[in-house]
Amino acid sequence: MQKTEIRRTFPPGAKIFNEGAPGDCAYIIESGEIEISIRRDDRDLVLARRGVGEIFGEMAIIDAAPRSASARAVVETTMLLLTEAQLQNRMKHLDPVLRMVLGVVLERFRASMQSMRSDAPAAKTAPSDGADAGDEDGPQDENLFSAAIQQVELEQELRRGIADGQIVFFYQPLIDSDDQRVMGYEALARWNHPERGMLPPGAFIQVAEASGLVRQISRCAVEAACRAAARLRAAPDGAHLFISANVTAEDICDPAFFDHVALCLELAGLAPDGLFLELTETTLIENADQALEMLGRYRALGVGVSIDDFGAGYSNFGYLARYPVQCLKIDKSVVDQVSCDAAVRDDCKGGKLVRIIATMAEVLGLKIVAEGVETAEQALILRDLGCHQLQGYHFGKPAPLVFADLDGDSAPAAVSR
Ligand code: CMP
Ligand code: MG
Repeated sequence: MQKTEIRRTFPPGAKIFNEGAPGDCAYIIESGEIEISIRRDDRDLVLARRGVGEIFGEMAIIDAAPRSASARAVVETTMLLLTEAQLQNRMKHLDPVLRMVLGVVLERFRASMQSMRSDAPAAKTAPSDGADAGDEDGPQDENLFSAAIQQVELEQELRRGIADGQIVFFYQPLIDSDDQRVMGYEALARWNHPERGMLPPGAFIQVAEASGLVRQISRCAVEAACRAAARLRAAPDGAHLFISANVTAEDICDPAFFDHVALCLELAGLAPDGLFLELTETTLIENADQALEMLGRYRALGVGVSIDDFGAGYSNFGYLARYPVQCLKIDKSVVDQVSCDAAVRDDCKGGKLVRIIATMAEVLGLKIVAEGVETAEQALILRDLGCHQLQGYHFGKPAPLVFADLDGDSAPAAVSR
Protein backbone atom coordinates (compact mmCIF):
# COMPACT_ATOMS: atom_id res chain seq x y z
CA MET A 1 0.00 0.00 0.00
CA GLN A 2 1.28 3.47 -0.84
CA LYS A 3 1.94 5.52 2.25
CA THR A 4 -0.31 8.38 1.19
CA GLU A 5 -3.21 6.21 0.08
CA ILE A 6 -6.34 7.07 2.04
CA ARG A 7 -9.14 5.45 0.05
CA ARG A 8 -9.55 2.89 -2.71
CA THR A 9 -12.23 2.43 -5.36
CA PHE A 10 -13.02 -0.94 -6.93
CA PRO A 11 -15.14 -1.48 -10.06
CA PRO A 12 -18.12 -3.89 -9.97
CA GLY A 13 -17.00 -7.50 -9.54
CA ALA A 14 -13.38 -6.68 -8.62
CA LYS A 15 -11.60 -8.76 -5.98
CA ILE A 16 -10.56 -6.68 -2.96
CA PHE A 17 -8.56 -9.46 -1.35
CA ASN A 18 -8.36 -13.23 -1.29
CA GLU A 19 -8.88 -15.63 1.56
CA GLY A 20 -5.50 -16.67 2.99
CA ALA A 21 -3.67 -13.55 1.80
CA PRO A 22 -1.83 -11.38 4.33
CA GLY A 23 -3.73 -8.23 5.30
CA ASP A 24 -2.39 -4.71 5.58
CA CYS A 25 -5.53 -2.72 6.23
CA ALA A 26 -9.22 -2.81 7.11
CA TYR A 27 -11.86 -1.00 5.05
CA ILE A 28 -14.70 1.32 5.90
CA ILE A 29 -17.24 1.47 3.08
CA GLU A 30 -18.08 4.99 1.94
CA SER A 31 -20.17 4.08 -1.09
CA GLY A 32 -21.19 0.86 -2.79
CA GLU A 33 -21.38 -2.69 -1.49
CA ILE A 34 -19.07 -5.65 -1.01
CA GLU A 35 -19.52 -9.38 -0.57
CA ILE A 36 -17.58 -11.61 1.83
CA SER A 37 -17.18 -15.23 0.80
CA ILE A 38 -15.19 -18.39 1.49
CA ARG A 39 -14.36 -21.32 -0.76
CA ARG A 40 -16.21 -24.47 0.26
CA ASP A 41 -16.52 -27.70 -1.75
CA ASP A 42 -15.15 -25.88 -4.79
CA ARG A 43 -17.87 -23.28 -4.56
CA ASP A 44 -17.97 -19.74 -3.23
CA LEU A 45 -20.08 -19.56 -0.13
CA VAL A 46 -21.28 -16.02 0.52
CA LEU A 47 -21.07 -15.15 4.19
CA ALA A 48 -22.23 -11.57 4.19
CA ARG A 49 -22.76 -8.36 2.30
CA ARG A 50 -21.51 -5.10 3.69
CA GLY A 51 -22.70 -1.61 2.75
CA VAL A 52 -22.08 2.04 3.47
CA GLY A 53 -20.64 2.80 6.92
CA GLU A 54 -19.67 -0.80 7.62
CA ILE A 55 -16.20 -2.15 8.29
CA PHE A 56 -14.56 -5.35 7.02
CA GLY A 57 -11.09 -6.81 6.76
CA GLU A 58 -10.40 -5.90 10.40
CA MET A 59 -9.63 -9.41 11.64
CA ALA A 60 -6.36 -9.88 9.81
CA ILE A 61 -4.90 -6.70 11.20
CA ILE A 62 -6.07 -7.23 14.75
CA ASP A 63 -4.21 -10.49 15.17
CA ALA A 64 -1.90 -10.52 12.14
CA ALA A 65 -3.44 -13.72 10.76
CA PRO A 66 -4.21 -14.23 7.05
CA ARG A 67 -7.51 -13.05 5.58
CA SER A 68 -10.26 -15.31 6.90
CA ALA A 69 -12.41 -14.80 3.79
CA SER A 70 -12.35 -13.18 0.37
CA ALA A 71 -13.94 -9.83 -0.42
CA ARG A 72 -15.33 -8.61 -3.74
CA ALA A 73 -17.02 -5.39 -4.82
CA VAL A 74 -20.65 -5.99 -5.83
CA VAL A 75 -21.04 -2.57 -7.42
CA GLU A 76 -18.48 0.21 -7.75
CA THR A 77 -17.29 0.65 -4.18
CA THR A 78 -15.15 3.29 -2.50
CA MET A 79 -13.58 2.58 0.85
CA LEU A 80 -11.61 4.47 3.44
CA LEU A 81 -8.52 2.55 4.58
CA LEU A 82 -7.83 1.81 8.22
CA THR A 83 -4.20 0.80 8.19
CA GLU A 84 -2.45 -1.80 10.27
CA ALA A 85 -0.36 0.96 11.88
CA GLN A 86 -3.46 2.94 12.83
CA LEU A 87 -5.15 -0.03 14.42
CA GLN A 88 -2.07 -1.55 16.07
CA ASN A 89 -1.23 1.74 17.73
CA ARG A 90 -4.71 1.95 19.16
CA MET A 91 -4.52 -1.66 20.30
CA LYS A 92 -1.29 -0.89 22.13
CA HIS A 93 -3.01 1.76 24.20
CA LEU A 94 -6.01 -0.38 24.92
CA ASP A 95 -6.57 -1.68 28.44
CA PRO A 96 -4.79 -5.10 28.60
CA VAL A 97 -7.92 -6.83 29.85
CA LEU A 98 -9.90 -5.51 26.89
CA ARG A 99 -7.15 -6.60 24.51
CA MET A 100 -7.20 -10.08 25.97
CA VAL A 101 -10.98 -10.29 25.62
CA LEU A 102 -10.80 -9.03 22.04
CA GLY A 103 -8.14 -11.61 21.21
CA VAL A 104 -10.21 -14.41 22.70
CA VAL A 105 -13.35 -13.36 20.83
CA LEU A 106 -11.42 -13.32 17.58
CA GLU A 107 -9.81 -16.68 18.21
CA ARG A 108 -13.16 -18.29 19.00
CA PHE A 109 -14.71 -16.79 15.90
CA ARG A 110 -11.90 -18.13 13.75
CA ALA A 111 -12.24 -21.57 15.34
CA SER A 112 -15.96 -21.74 14.64
CA MET A 113 -15.40 -20.55 11.07
CA GLN A 114 -12.85 -23.32 10.60
CA SER A 115 -15.12 -26.02 11.96
CA MET A 116 -17.81 -24.88 9.53
CA ARG A 117 -15.55 -25.67 6.60
CA SER A 118 -15.25 -29.12 5.09
CA ASP A 119 -11.54 -28.72 4.33
CA ALA A 120 -10.74 -27.57 7.84
CA PRO A 121 -7.12 -28.48 8.54
CA ALA A 122 -6.72 -27.26 12.13
CA ALA A 123 -8.77 -25.20 14.48
CA LYS A 124 -6.21 -22.47 14.86
CA THR A 125 -5.07 -20.25 12.02
CA ALA A 126 -1.49 -19.08 11.76
CA PRO A 127 0.15 -16.28 9.84
CA SER A 128 0.86 -17.45 6.32
CA ASP A 129 4.47 -16.36 6.08
CA GLY A 130 5.28 -16.57 9.75
CA ALA A 131 6.58 -13.01 9.68
CA ASP A 132 4.19 -11.85 12.34
CA ALA A 133 4.15 -14.99 14.42
CA GLY A 134 4.79 -14.24 18.07
CA ASP A 135 4.44 -10.52 17.51
CA GLU A 136 4.82 -9.01 20.95
CA ASP A 137 1.88 -6.72 20.46
CA GLY A 138 -0.50 -9.35 19.17
CA PRO A 139 -3.59 -9.86 21.31
CA GLN A 140 -2.61 -13.48 21.97
CA ASP A 141 0.80 -12.58 23.28
CA GLU A 142 1.66 -14.51 26.44
CA ASN A 143 3.01 -11.55 28.35
CA LEU A 144 -0.09 -9.60 27.58
CA PHE A 145 -2.18 -12.52 28.70
CA SER A 146 -0.46 -12.86 32.05
CA ALA A 147 -0.49 -9.08 32.57
CA ALA A 148 -4.21 -9.06 31.90
CA ILE A 149 -4.81 -11.97 34.25
CA GLN A 150 -2.78 -10.27 36.97
CA GLN A 151 -4.86 -7.15 36.55
CA VAL A 152 -8.10 -9.06 36.78
CA GLU A 153 -6.90 -10.82 39.94
CA LEU A 154 -5.68 -7.61 41.51
CA GLU A 155 -8.94 -5.90 40.67
CA GLN A 156 -11.00 -8.65 42.30
CA GLU A 157 -8.78 -8.55 45.33
CA LEU A 158 -9.04 -4.78 45.55
CA ARG A 159 -12.80 -4.95 45.21
CA ARG A 160 -12.93 -7.35 48.14
CA GLY A 161 -10.36 -5.29 50.05
CA ILE A 162 -12.45 -2.14 49.74
CA ALA A 163 -15.56 -3.98 50.94
CA ASP A 164 -13.57 -5.38 53.89
CA GLY A 165 -12.32 -1.95 54.93
CA GLN A 166 -8.70 -2.62 53.93
CA ILE A 167 -8.30 0.85 52.42
CA VAL A 168 -7.03 3.08 55.18
CA PHE A 169 -5.69 6.62 55.12
CA PHE A 170 -2.42 8.16 56.13
CA TYR A 171 -2.24 11.89 56.67
CA GLN A 172 0.44 14.29 55.52
CA PRO A 173 0.56 17.76 57.08
CA LEU A 174 0.20 21.05 55.20
CA ILE A 175 2.17 23.79 56.91
CA ASP A 176 1.65 27.54 56.95
CA SER A 177 4.74 28.92 55.24
CA ASP A 178 4.95 31.96 57.55
CA ASP A 179 4.64 30.53 61.02
CA GLN A 180 5.11 26.84 60.19
CA ARG A 181 1.88 25.91 61.94
CA VAL A 182 0.05 22.79 60.77
CA MET A 183 -3.01 24.02 58.88
CA GLY A 184 -4.39 20.70 57.75
CA TYR A 185 -3.64 17.28 56.32
CA GLU A 186 -4.04 15.45 53.04
CA ALA A 187 -5.60 12.01 53.37
CA LEU A 188 -3.61 9.52 51.29
CA ALA A 189 -4.89 6.03 50.60
CA ARG A 190 -3.03 2.90 51.65
CA TRP A 191 -4.13 -0.66 51.08
CA ASN A 192 -3.70 -2.60 54.28
CA HIS A 193 -3.31 -5.89 52.47
CA PRO A 194 -3.76 -9.00 54.65
CA GLU A 195 -0.70 -10.75 53.15
CA ARG A 196 1.37 -8.06 51.48
CA GLY A 197 1.23 -5.45 54.23
CA MET A 198 0.64 -1.74 53.85
CA LEU A 199 0.68 -0.98 50.13
CA PRO A 200 1.27 2.49 48.67
CA PRO A 201 -1.06 3.86 45.97
CA GLY A 202 1.47 2.94 43.26
CA ALA A 203 0.63 -0.72 43.89
CA PHE A 204 -3.09 -0.37 43.19
CA ILE A 205 -4.11 3.01 41.84
CA GLN A 206 -3.70 2.07 38.19
CA VAL A 207 -6.00 -0.91 38.51
CA ALA A 208 -8.36 1.18 40.65
CA GLU A 209 -8.60 3.75 37.87
CA ALA A 210 -8.95 1.24 35.03
CA SER A 211 -11.71 -0.62 36.87
CA GLY A 212 -13.54 2.40 38.23
CA LEU A 213 -12.88 1.23 41.80
CA VAL A 214 -11.09 4.52 42.35
CA ARG A 215 -14.51 6.06 42.79
CA GLN A 216 -15.19 3.85 45.79
CA ILE A 217 -11.82 4.85 47.18
CA SER A 218 -12.77 8.53 46.78
CA ARG A 219 -15.89 7.88 48.79
CA CYS A 220 -13.84 6.19 51.51
CA ALA A 221 -11.43 9.14 51.45
CA VAL A 222 -14.19 11.68 51.97
CA GLU A 223 -15.70 9.74 54.81
CA ALA A 224 -12.35 9.18 56.51
CA ALA A 225 -11.38 12.83 56.00
CA CYS A 226 -14.63 14.12 57.53
CA ARG A 227 -14.36 11.89 60.55
CA ALA A 228 -10.71 12.68 61.12
CA ALA A 229 -11.19 16.43 60.62
CA ALA A 230 -14.06 16.48 63.08
CA ARG A 231 -11.88 14.84 65.71
CA LEU A 232 -8.94 17.15 65.02
CA ARG A 233 -11.18 20.17 65.34
CA ALA A 234 -12.56 18.95 68.63
CA ALA A 235 -9.06 18.85 70.12
CA PRO A 236 -7.48 21.90 71.80
CA ASP A 237 -5.96 24.30 69.19
CA GLY A 238 -7.47 22.23 66.40
CA ALA A 239 -10.43 24.39 65.41
CA HIS A 240 -8.72 25.73 62.26
CA LEU A 241 -7.64 22.38 60.82
CA PHE A 242 -8.92 20.85 57.60
CA ILE A 243 -8.39 17.58 55.80
CA SER A 244 -8.26 17.22 52.05
CA ALA A 245 -9.34 14.12 50.16
CA ASN A 246 -8.34 13.19 46.62
CA VAL A 247 -11.25 12.69 44.28
CA THR A 248 -11.67 12.36 40.51
CA ALA A 249 -13.38 14.75 38.13
CA GLU A 250 -15.99 12.04 37.57
CA ASP A 251 -16.77 12.17 41.27
CA ILE A 252 -17.07 15.94 41.19
CA CYS A 253 -19.45 15.75 38.22
CA ASP A 254 -21.64 13.13 39.91
CA PRO A 255 -24.57 14.58 41.91
CA ALA A 256 -24.71 11.37 43.99
CA PHE A 257 -21.14 12.01 45.09
CA PHE A 258 -22.15 15.51 46.16
CA ASP A 259 -24.86 13.97 48.32
CA HIS A 260 -22.29 11.57 49.76
CA VAL A 261 -20.02 14.49 50.68
CA ALA A 262 -22.90 16.36 52.32
CA LEU A 263 -23.91 13.23 54.25
CA CYS A 264 -20.35 12.55 55.45
CA LEU A 265 -20.07 16.13 56.74
CA GLU A 266 -23.35 15.80 58.54
CA LEU A 267 -22.60 12.40 60.08
CA ALA A 268 -19.19 13.57 61.25
CA GLY A 269 -20.59 16.85 62.54
CA LEU A 270 -17.96 18.70 60.51
CA ALA A 271 -18.36 22.26 59.23
CA PRO A 272 -17.87 22.22 55.43
CA ASP A 273 -14.72 24.35 55.60
CA GLY A 274 -13.03 21.46 57.40
CA LEU A 275 -13.00 19.50 54.14
CA PHE A 276 -11.12 20.10 50.91
CA LEU A 277 -11.46 18.05 47.76
CA GLU A 278 -8.37 17.73 45.56
CA LEU A 279 -8.68 16.98 41.89
CA THR A 280 -6.19 17.04 39.04
CA GLU A 281 -6.39 19.72 36.41
CA THR A 282 -6.24 17.32 33.46
CA THR A 283 -9.38 15.41 34.36
CA LEU A 284 -11.13 18.63 35.24
CA ILE A 285 -10.57 20.10 31.79
CA GLU A 286 -11.90 16.94 30.16
CA ASN A 287 -15.21 17.36 31.98
CA ALA A 288 -15.29 21.15 31.79
CA ASP A 289 -18.95 22.13 31.58
CA GLN A 290 -20.40 19.68 34.04
CA ALA A 291 -17.55 20.32 36.45
CA LEU A 292 -18.25 24.04 36.39
CA GLU A 293 -21.83 23.56 37.46
CA MET A 294 -20.99 21.07 40.22
CA LEU A 295 -18.08 23.15 41.53
CA GLY A 296 -20.60 25.94 42.03
CA ARG A 297 -22.62 23.59 44.23
CA TYR A 298 -19.56 22.69 46.30
CA ARG A 299 -18.77 26.36 46.75
CA ALA A 300 -22.33 27.02 47.89
CA LEU A 301 -22.02 24.13 50.35
CA GLY A 302 -18.77 25.60 51.65
CA VAL A 303 -16.41 22.74 50.87
CA GLY A 304 -13.00 23.80 49.52
CA VAL A 305 -11.65 22.57 46.20
CA SER A 306 -7.96 22.35 45.32
CA ILE A 307 -6.41 21.78 41.93
CA ASP A 308 -3.85 19.04 42.46
CA ASP A 309 -0.56 18.46 40.61
CA PHE A 310 -0.67 21.92 39.02
CA GLY A 311 2.16 22.27 36.53
CA ALA A 312 2.36 18.55 35.77
CA GLY A 313 -0.38 18.53 33.13
CA TYR A 314 -1.80 21.11 30.76
CA SER A 315 -1.58 23.94 33.30
CA ASN A 316 -4.38 25.69 31.57
CA PHE A 317 -4.61 29.11 33.17
CA GLY A 318 -7.85 29.96 31.41
CA TYR A 319 -10.06 27.57 33.33
CA LEU A 320 -8.72 28.71 36.69
CA ALA A 321 -10.43 32.05 36.27
CA ARG A 322 -13.72 30.35 35.42
CA TYR A 323 -13.79 27.65 38.04
CA PRO A 324 -14.71 28.34 41.64
CA VAL A 325 -11.69 26.68 43.24
CA GLN A 326 -9.87 27.94 46.31
CA CYS A 327 -6.44 26.44 46.13
CA LEU A 328 -3.67 25.42 43.73
CA LYS A 329 -1.21 22.72 44.63
CA ILE A 330 2.02 23.12 42.69
CA ASP A 331 3.34 19.75 41.59
CA LYS A 332 6.61 18.43 43.01
CA SER A 333 8.09 18.36 39.50
CA VAL A 334 7.87 22.18 39.43
CA VAL A 335 8.99 22.59 43.05
CA ASP A 336 12.04 20.43 42.29
CA GLN A 337 13.17 22.98 39.72
CA VAL A 338 13.41 25.73 42.33
CA SER A 339 17.09 26.12 42.99
CA CYS A 340 18.41 26.49 46.53
CA ASP A 341 21.70 27.79 45.27
CA ALA A 342 21.90 31.40 46.57
CA ALA A 343 23.71 32.56 43.43
CA VAL A 344 20.92 31.55 41.05
CA ARG A 345 18.01 31.55 43.44
CA ASP A 346 16.33 34.62 42.00
CA ASP A 347 17.12 33.70 38.47
CA CYS A 348 16.31 30.02 38.18
CA LYS A 349 13.48 28.95 35.90
CA GLY A 350 11.66 26.96 38.55
CA GLY A 351 11.66 29.95 40.89
CA LYS A 352 10.31 32.23 38.19
CA LEU A 353 7.64 29.72 37.37
CA VAL A 354 6.50 29.47 40.98
CA ARG A 355 6.46 33.25 41.24
CA ILE A 356 4.29 33.54 38.13
CA ILE A 357 1.89 30.92 39.44
CA ALA A 358 1.76 32.71 42.81
CA THR A 359 1.13 36.09 41.16
CA MET A 360 -1.65 34.65 39.05
CA ALA A 361 -3.11 32.95 42.10
CA GLU A 362 -3.13 36.24 43.97
CA VAL A 363 -5.07 37.91 41.15
CA LEU A 364 -7.57 35.05 41.24
CA GLY A 365 -7.71 34.94 45.04
CA LEU A 366 -6.34 31.41 45.25
CA LYS A 367 -4.16 29.90 47.93
CA ILE A 368 -0.95 28.24 46.81
CA VAL A 369 0.44 25.01 48.22
CA ALA A 370 3.88 23.75 47.23
CA GLU A 371 4.09 19.96 47.18
CA GLY A 372 7.17 17.83 47.70
CA VAL A 373 9.12 20.22 49.94
CA GLU A 374 12.17 18.35 51.17
CA THR A 375 14.47 20.84 52.89
CA ALA A 376 14.26 23.84 55.24
CA GLU A 377 15.99 25.97 52.62
CA GLN A 378 13.43 25.07 49.99
CA ALA A 379 10.66 25.93 52.45
CA LEU A 380 12.05 29.44 52.96
CA ILE A 381 12.48 30.10 49.25
CA LEU A 382 8.98 28.86 48.47
CA ARG A 383 7.58 31.10 51.18
CA ASP A 384 9.44 34.07 49.65
CA LEU A 385 8.11 33.16 46.24
CA GLY A 386 4.56 33.49 47.53
CA CYS A 387 3.49 29.96 48.51
CA HIS A 388 1.03 30.04 51.40
CA GLN A 389 1.28 26.44 52.47
CA LEU A 390 3.94 23.77 52.16
CA GLN A 391 3.72 20.01 52.09
CA GLY A 392 6.49 17.44 51.85
CA TYR A 393 8.85 15.08 53.63
CA HIS A 394 10.62 18.00 55.30
CA PHE A 395 7.52 18.57 57.40
CA GLY A 396 6.19 15.07 57.60
CA LYS A 397 5.62 11.87 55.66
CA PRO A 398 2.10 10.49 55.40
CA ALA A 399 1.34 8.70 58.67
CA PRO A 400 -1.63 7.61 60.76
CA LEU A 401 -3.09 10.46 62.76
CA VAL A 402 -2.69 10.45 66.49
CA PHE A 403 -5.63 12.19 68.08
CA ALA A 404 -5.46 14.15 71.29
CA ASP A 405 -8.37 12.09 72.64
CA LEU A 406 -6.35 8.94 71.93
CA ASP A 407 -8.49 5.86 71.96
CA GLY A 408 -6.59 3.76 69.50
CA ASP A 409 -8.62 4.69 66.47
CA SER A 410 -5.69 6.38 64.81
CA ALA A 411 -6.54 5.45 61.27
CA PRO A 412 -10.17 6.29 60.58
CA ALA A 413 -12.01 3.29 59.20
CA ALA A 414 -12.91 3.20 55.55
CA VAL A 415 -16.50 3.38 54.55
CA SER A 416 -17.90 -0.05 53.82
CA ARG A 417 -19.99 -0.25 50.72
P1 CMP B 1 -10.24 -10.41 7.57
O1 CMP B 1 -10.01 -11.77 8.08
O2 CMP B 1 -9.17 -9.40 7.71
O3 CMP B 1 -10.61 -10.51 6.03
C1 CMP B 1 -11.87 -11.10 5.68
C2 CMP B 1 -12.95 -10.31 6.38
O4 CMP B 1 -14.25 -10.76 6.18
C3 CMP B 1 -12.74 -10.42 7.88
O5 CMP B 1 -11.56 -9.79 8.25
C4 CMP B 1 -14.07 -9.87 8.34
O6 CMP B 1 -14.11 -8.46 8.23
C5 CMP B 1 -15.02 -10.46 7.32
N1 CMP B 1 -15.64 -11.72 7.77
C6 CMP B 1 -15.00 -12.85 8.11
N2 CMP B 1 -15.90 -13.81 8.44
C7 CMP B 1 -17.11 -13.27 8.33
C8 CMP B 1 -18.44 -13.78 8.53
N3 CMP B 1 -18.69 -15.02 8.93
N4 CMP B 1 -19.46 -12.94 8.33
C9 CMP B 1 -19.23 -11.67 7.92
N5 CMP B 1 -18.01 -11.15 7.71
C10 CMP B 1 -16.96 -11.94 7.89
MG1 MG C 1 -3.32 15.25 46.20
